[in-house]
Amino acid sequence: MEIDQPLTLLGGLSAQQFMRRHWQKKPLLVRQAVPAMVPPIARPELFDLAAREEVESRLIRHGKSGWTLKHGPFARRALPSLKQPGWTLLVQGVDLHHQGVHELLQQFRFVPDARLDDVMISYASDTGGVGAHFDSYDVFLLQAQGRRRWSIGKQRDLRLQPHVPLKILAQFEPEQSFVLEAGDMLYLPPRYAHDGVAEGDDCMTYSIGLRSPAAAPLGADLLARIAEAQAEAVEDAAAQAAVHYRDPAQPALDTPAAMPSALQAFAREAVLSAMRDGDIIDRALGESMTEPKPTVWFDQGEAPSQLNAVALDRRTRMLYDERHLYINGESFRASGRDAKLMRRLADQRGLGPRDLARASDDALALLSDWCEAGWVHAE
Ligand code: SIN
Ligand code: CO
Repeated sequence: MEIDQPLTLLGGLSAQQFMRRHWQKKPLLVRQAVPAMVPPIARPELFDLAAREEVESRLIRHGKSGWTLKHGPFARRALPSLKQPGWTLLVQGVDLHHQGVHELLQQFRFVPDARLDDVMISYASDTGGVGAHFDSYDVFLLQAQGRRRWSIGKQRDLRLQPHVPLKILAQFEPEQSFVLEAGDMLYLPPRYAHDGVAEGDDCMTYSIGLRSPAAAPLGADLLARIAEAQAEAVEDAAAQAAVHYRDPAQPALDTPAAMPSALQAFAREAVLSAMRDGDIIDRALGESMTEPKPTVWFDQGEAPSQLNAVALDRRTRMLYDERHLYINGESFRASGRDAKLMRRLADQRGLGPRDLARASDDALALLSDWCEAGWVHAE
């Protein structure tokens, strides 16, 4: 992507300017970010997705008796009639299931892949919405069809309404309000309060959602992965090289239950020495960030005897760093020409005949394995 060229998607800002001025800092309203927007997915197709077991969906309604929330899957007849006002269907991860929506998401790849989450689509009947709230993540709200009024504000008072199945602000203080039409887009940084209300029927909004790990759960996930890797390393190294605790200076005790402080120091060192190797944390992070969502399953594929061109499956997550490649929760060491090739695969999500003609046997073998796993498709 040309990161210094003005983009219609960003209202004439380049990706670089957008990241400097708005990203994680302040909202941006773009009229006709996607000119003459034709939604890549029509209502019946979206409703079909909401009926599927492996697709996460929610139905939110509000009326005289307050807010209600139901989790999918929803058969078509379980959804309210289109004429009934005040309801919203939210379908998560549509980019994983629909090629057109996946392609739309690619336009946002000026942000690191590690930060992109998914495209959630909301379908609302007249006056439908999910209430005034804030999210922990940045979001691009693209109006795909119909009209929606967004009210937004910085909001200092983050208290929520009690006894409501959704997170709804107790005292929303909107500062600005605008109606978005098909093709218009609103970027909001994390924790910026917002309330979107459909004006008229058939309102569809795409939330291009970001993700950013929270320190404590990320730490816990990485520690679990490191523990698993360490356990394997211990098995491989067999017991003969093991360094055991020794205490030739241990005096006799009349308090035998007391934990020896030297043993505590030995234990701390055992843990820290594993952590001091930065590589182990990098690997755990790469595996964690490319782990497919729990609902994603790949179908076994086939590797042709000769690879001419390959493309990543739209559900494949692939990242890299200086020493590794990460793909769908696994890591590989890579260096030299092969690393360069695989990085191109990750950035472009595909490789052409010219790239593959120069690929080493090792790289081709790896690509064949990934074809068989259904992570990569031969073209
Ligand atoms: C919606 O599309 O109705 C909700 C999106 C959001 O507020 O994050
Ligand atoms: Co939101």
